Amino acid sequence: MDLEREFDRVVAADHRVEPRDWMPDGYRSTLIRQIAQHAHSEIIGMQPEGNWISRAPSLRRKAILLAKVQDEAGHGLYLYAAAETLGADRAELTEKLISGRQKYSSIFNYPTLTFADVGVIGWLVDGAAICNQVPLCRTSYGPYARAMIRVCKEESFHQRQGYELLMTMMGGTKQQRDLVQDAVNRWWWPSLMMFGPPDAESSNTEQSMHWRIKRHTNDELRQRFVDMSVPQAVKLGVTFPDPKLVWNDERGHYDFGEIDWAEFWRVVKGDGPCNAQRVAHRRQAHEDGAWVREAAAAYAAKKNSEAVA
Ligand code: 3HC
Repeated sequence: MDLEREFDRVVAADHRVEPRDWMPDGYRSTLIRQIAQHAHSEIIGMQPEGNWISRAPSLRRKAILLAKVQDEAGHGLYLYAAAETLGADRAELTEKLISGRQKYSSIFNYPTLTFADVGVIGWLVDGAAICNQVPLCRTSYGPYARAMIRVCKEESFHQRQGYELLMTMMGGTKQQRDLVQDAVNRWWWPSLMMFGPPDAESSNTEQSMHWRIKRHTNDELRQRFVDMSVPQAVKLGVTFPDPKLVWNDERGHYDFGEIDWAEFWRVVKGDGPCNAQRVAHRRQAHEDGAWVREAAAAYAAKKNSEAVA
C-alpha cells in the first residue's frame, strides 16, 4: 500500500498524525502555514487589549486583563512549539511575521477605543475563536489538536470575563451602555471576517477538509457563531449593526447581511486601521529582546562546554 494511500486511510479513520509519521509535503506545509499564522495571531492579539492594562478602571479588571493577555502569549508559545514539531524554525517564523511574509488574524488590526472594547473582544472575538478552535481539538495533527484542548479551556474564561464585564457596564449609566453598543457596532463585522473568506473563495478549505485539518468550513463556523451570538446580545440588551439579521425558520439559522469582503481583503493585505502599528510594535519588541536571546544562547553554550569538558 503506497505511503499516500496509507496516510489517507489513517486520516479518514480519524486517527492522529504524529510528528514522526510519514506525511505528504503539502500536509506539512499547510499545517506550518496555519499553525504559524494562528501563533502570530495570538501574539499580535496581545497588543489591542494590552493597551488597556495600565488604564483598567479597577484592580480586579486589571488583574483579569493581565491574566488574559498572558494567556494569549502562552497560546502563541504552544502553537510555535507545535509548528516546530513539523520542522519549522521559530526564529524564521517570527522573521516572516515582521517582514509581512506570513499573516495573522485580520481582527487584531482594529483599534481598542474604550474599555468597553475589552469586554466586546472577550465576548465576540474570543467567542469566535472558540467556535473556530473547538473543532481544531479534533484536527488530524496530534500536537495541534492537543494544544487546542488547553487553549479552548482558557478561551472560555476569556469569553466569560468579557461578557461579565459588559453585563456590569449594561447595568451602569446610560453613557456606559452607549460605550458598549458603540463597541459592538465596531467589532461585529470584523468578528465575522475572522472565519475567513466565503467557502467559494477559500483557496485552502477543500484540501484542509480532505486532510481533516479543518473539520468545518469557514461559512459553517461563521453561521454557528452568528446563531450563538444573537441570543447573547438579546440577554445583554445590545443590537448588532445588521438590519438583515433575522431568524429563518426554514433554514433553522439566522440570516445575516453581506460582509464587506473588500474591507476584509484590504485588511488582510496590510491596509487595515492598525496593521503598520501592530507589526512595527512586534518588530520593536523582537529587537528589544535580542539581548535576552543572545544571553540565553551564550549560557546554553557555556553549560554545554562544561558538560563536554
Ligand atoms: N485574517 C487574516 N488572513 C486570513 C483570515 C483572517 N481572518 N482568514 C483567512 N485568511 C487568509 C488565509 O490565511 C489564506 O491565506 P494564506 O493561504 O496565505 O494563509 C487566505 O486568507 C484564504 O483563506 P482560507 O480560508 O483559504 O485559509 P484557511 O483554510 O487557512 O482558513 C482560517 C483561514 C479559518 C483562519 C484557518 O487558517 C484557521 O482556522 N486557523 C486557525 C485559527 C486561527 O488562526 N485563528 C485566528 C485567530 S486566533 C485568536 O482569535 C486568538 C484569541 O485568543 C482571540
